[in-house]
Amino acid sequence: MPEHIVGKTSDIDEGTGKTFTIEGQTIAVFNKSGEIFAIEDTCKHKGGSLGEGELDGDTITCPLHGWQYNITNGECLMNPQVKMKNFSVKVENGEISVEV
Ligand code: FES
Repeated sequence: MPEHIVGKTSDIDEGTGKTFTIEGQTIAVFNKSGEIFAIEDTCKHKGGSLGEGELDGDTITCPLHGWQYNITNGECLMNPQVKMKNFSVKVENGEISVEV
């Protein structure tokens, strides 16, 4: 699968996320204490942007109604049957690439 460079680790403050559109998919990329993770951005509840949510450890909280997901594997904490896609991420020389 092709890798897409989305920017530098310094572009995403620790403890936050950002949303990117890659190959027509919106993807939220998170910086958890220097570790980078990427999952689908669009909340399965009503479409909130997880990249704009609040990150606490591995947990991102949707800014609209508070559904929570694990950024390391895309699992929804509220409903085990709901899962976001998660994407492989590489960091080389401070540059983040996401495999989509
Ligand atoms: S849209 Fe995410 S919790 Fe409702």
